[in-house]
Amino acid sequence: MSFDLVFFGGTGDLTWRKLMPSLFQAWRHGKLPTEGRILAVARDDRDNASYRAWLKERLQEADPAKRPTEDEFERFSALIHFLRMDLSQSADYQRLKDWLGTRSADTVVIYLATSPHLFPLICEQLGHSGLNHERVRVVLEKPLGHDLASAQEINRVVRSVFSERQALRIDHYLGKPSVQNLMALRFGNVLFEPLWRRESIANIQITLAESMGVGTRGDFYDRTGALRDMIQNHALQLLTMIAMEPPSSADADAIRDEKLKVLRSLKPFDAASVARDVVRGQYRSGTIAGESVQAYLAENKVPTDSRTETFVALRCEIQNWRWAGVPFYLRTGKRLAQRHAEIVVTFRPAPHSIFPGSNMPNRLVIRLQPDDGLELQLLAAKGTVASVLSGAEQEVLSPVSLDLDFDKAFPTERVGAYERMLLDALAGRLNLFVRSDEQEQAWRWVEPILDAWKTDLNGLRPYAAGTWGPPAASALVARDGFAWAEEC
Ligand code: BG6
Repeated sequence: MSFDLVFFGGTGDLTWRKLMPSLFQAWRHGKLPTEGRILAVARDDRDNASYRAWLKERLQEADPAKRPTEDEFERFSALIHFLRMDLSQSADYQRLKDWLGTRSADTVVIYLATSPHLFPLICEQLGHSGLNHERVRVVLEKPLGHDLASAQEINRVVRSVFSERQALRIDHYLGKPSVQNLMALRFGNVLFEPLWRRESIANIQITLAESMGVGTRGDFYDRTGALRDMIQNHALQLLTMIAMEPPSSADADAIRDEKLKVLRSLKPFDAASVARDVVRGQYRSGTIAGESVQAYLAENKVPTDSRTETFVALRCEIQNWRWAGVPFYLRTGKRLAQRHAEIVVTFRPAPHSIFPGSNMPNRLVIRLQPDDGLELQLLAAKGTVASVLSGAEQEVLSPVSLDLDFDKAFPTERVGAYERMLLDALAGRLNLFVRSDEQEQAWRWVEPILDAWKTDLNGLRPYAAGTWGPPAASALVARDGFAWAEEC
């Protein structure tokens, strides 16, 4: 298969930090179709040679194991080209069309790694130039819009140019190996399905914690905040994967229909439930891994009076027969104690324990990062049952883990999230891309939270960098008689 892959935003952060390194890995692993061209598009005054030289330096900033050697870069960079474009100029789209027209690739993927406010403009221009024919797919990076109305407007324009199957909305969390394994765990095995319901599950927690701050993205982040940046998309997508009904097939729409049903079943928020069930915070200075870090308000390009949240914890419920009454807790934040993303499913305790003092519930932990794996926490006999029953030992059961480390289980087959998403985009596999109705429903659900925050000016709670967020986040879970996994 031959392909042309075009990156709008070709010199932007996302392109050099994630997209190009992932493409390089795909190329290195021999997964990239051989007849390919990669075109970086940006306003900068560069040519192929200067862009390649710039990219070479950027790729040297990757982990040592992921850096290209001289020879590798030489061969990989032969695929890479640069085109200077002013995105508002129709003539420049004609130049793009001419460039693409120098041969007829089987697939043309146009990746919009720009600010989303440019998506409508770019899509319209692509349409006017005829770059929406059936071999073209367009990939839209998050955040798609700022609220429901802006997301709908973007989708309206995108739909007027591309069919739904041509428009690939990316959420890179869906490309993470553990999320793939969550699907395999749930729908490839019979073990968990009978337990995957309110009768057996006490609560589910999704934590997407980052130890880094906002870095160089202060202006973007300050306009966005943690709710829009992580909850509306990544956390809700993970929630749908955990909670969805088994799809009838692995077909993209069969899966996306089930995910949409979960989003539609989420109990809507109102002002009272936002005040009760949503905690938002902003980091102050603190210490992470022995290093002092500054407060959010001191970050570059962040206004000193900003009220943007860098932390959100919330409690929600899914109103259907499988999940009614089971609390789902979602939490994300910058400058937390560790980079740590996981889903923790806590089962109900045994209804009657014959082992005194040993009633810890079973837990299934789906670890997304820093390493990825599955851990099943069980109770096992430490001493002999008889010795406990006779009173010779007080605690017979102690927690043990069945631990599956995917890196060890599949040492040669690990594919990073962006690498997988890019390969899927090239192959036209849509399963991991978010459909416009899912994305709009997610906005519909978070919007009452955004609205309530506009008038609640006192709810932003400070937390010290290097902690797990404001104490109110622990209280939110404690109210139901539970605790966050790290507090158990
Ligand atoms: C992005 C957010 O979507 O995800 C960033 O915009 C965040 O703020 C990033 O840092 C986290 O992704 P990952 O894969 O590093 O957990």
